[in-house]
Amino acid sequence: MKILAFNGSPRTGKWNTATMLEHALDGARSAGAGTELFNLYQLDFKGCASCFACKRKGRKEVGVCALRDDLQPVLEKVRSADALLLGTPVYYGAESAAMRAFLERLQFPYLNYEDYSNPHFPRKIRTGLIYTMNIPDERLESMGYPALFERARFNLARHFGSCELVLAKNTTQYTDYAKYESYAPAEEKARYREEHFGQDCGRARELGVRLTEPFQEQE
Ligand SMILES: Cc1cc2nc3c(=O)[nH]c(=O)nc-3n(C[C@H](O)[C@H](O)[C@H](O)COP(=O)(O)O)c2cc1C
Repeated sequence: MKILAFNGSPRTGKWNTATMLEHALDGARSAGAGTELFNLYQLDFKGCASCFACKRKGRKEVGVCALRDDLQPVLEKVRSADALLLGTPVYYGAESAAMRAFLERLQFPYLNYEDYSNPHFPRKIRTGLIYTMNIPDERLESMGYPALFERARFNLARHFGSCELVLAKNTTQYTDYAKYESYAPAEEKARYREEHFGQDCGRARELGVRLTEPFQEQE
């Protein structure tokens, strides 16, 4: 059982998205899975070029992106992965630029234009999608975020079989709040993190364990 994970934050190391992903992968490993993490910002690739090679009739291979860049070997590994885990910060109310580009390249070759309900990905697998964001819980609805999360979740489920969301809200953005602009006082951010981030990481870990379980229709 092999799980591939993708970090859509330019910040690796101990930052929010990377930490959530690491907890999820720990959970997966504790359940016996092998894992591999790709930091998208360290790869040289672009989004879909709209060449439609992946929609051409009589093409040699189905579900394969024609672009040749750093993502090509990664997408090749996706074809045989048992589960996928994606993590991204929210940037301007959407996924980060690298994650958006990745989602296009990951999904579009598997989208069957003749029958959306019958994707070209050869199996049904579990996927997980983690978002981390600065916004506090009480502003989530009014900013329309749940619809964004659900759209991305729905798309992954449509291409791969199923997708489960985990969110971390009101994340810490800086190590030293005294040095940067902030809408909330440092102590307030620190208190929120103290009370919530551990639980968020716990939910990420549980997601990682669930990704190792046999596929079931969505749930
Ligand atoms: C360019 C940029 C845009 C951002 N836009 C949003 C936003 O629209 N909504 C939000 O809640 N947080 C926003 N944030 C905050 C990040 O989503 C949040 O701090 C996230 O947890 C960072 O993840 P990381 O620590 O893994 O890099 C933004 C941050 C940056 C750098």
